[in-house]
Amino acid sequence: MLRTILLGPPGAGKGTQAVKIVEKYNIPHISTGDIFRENIKNETELGNRAKAYMDRGELVPDELVVEIATDRLTKDDCKNGFLLDGFPRTIFQAEKLDEFLAQRGEKIDKVINIDVEKDALVKRITGRRVCKSCGASYHVVNIPPKKDGVCDLCNGELIQRADDTEETVLNRIDVYNKQTKPLVDYYDKAGVIINIDGNKDLDDVLADIVKGLGK
Ligand code: AP5
Ligand code: MG
Ligand code: ZN
Repeated sequence: MLRTILLGPPGAGKGTQAVKIVEKYNIPHISTGDIFRENIKNETELGNRAKAYMDRGELVPDELVVEIATDRLTKDDCKNGFLLDGFPRTIFQAEKLDEFLAQRGEKIDKVINIDVEKDALVKRITGRRVCKSCGASYHVVNIPPKKDGVCDLCNGELIQRADDTEETVLNRIDVYNKQTKPLVDYYDKAGVIINIDGNKDLDDVLADIVKGLGK
């Protein structure tokens, strides 16, 4: 059983590490950002409402997010735990999540807090490329695909996320510092924080996370 959260600024490596963690612990990867992007792609009402906030690098309003996330957590595949990526992002969201879990006799076991220097965050985000078909993530310098612009896994086209411009990234980092960083304290008080140095290489970061989870 592992109910866990990945916390960290944009570009910290949450999505990259999540893929490895869920494989190892056999739990679902739940990314609210991915859920919103899927809805934008399919032009759903939720997608239309979220898009303007995301393009500016602002948070989508709490009411919209909490319902989507908690609804996802009621699905069968979350019985043995889950890995939340990008949720919660405000104290309000964290309190609602705690209430939701408490009603079910559950709680968060661990919060993986990945920290990375600001300059590196900007470089990581502006160099990120994602597969249009399968969502796999690359970096033009750090983690290049075998063939330029083409996904190693499915041959899909690699594109840039709409919110990965330098200007939007700087705003996303500000928003993180103001609205999300207080969660580090919140979960530290609950005794569940694992602090991870995300400046290291991919494999070293993963090894530190696994050590921190202790299973
Ligand atoms: P979301 O999709 O969650 O984006 P984010 O938090 O800004 O984080 P990113 O996905 O940009 O970064 P990441 O940490 O996953 O990094 P990655 O592993 O890709 O949210 C997007 C938007 O949706 C928000 O702005 C908001 O509008 C909305 N939203 C979502 N959830 C919400 C919520 N709960 N409440 C309100 N609004 C919400 O890595 C980045 C790059 O670095 C990649 O290219 C990767 O290859 C590279 N890299 C990774 N690790 C390393 C390493 N160790 N060394 C070198 N390069 C590395
Ligand atoms: Mg991500
Ligand atoms: Zn692909």
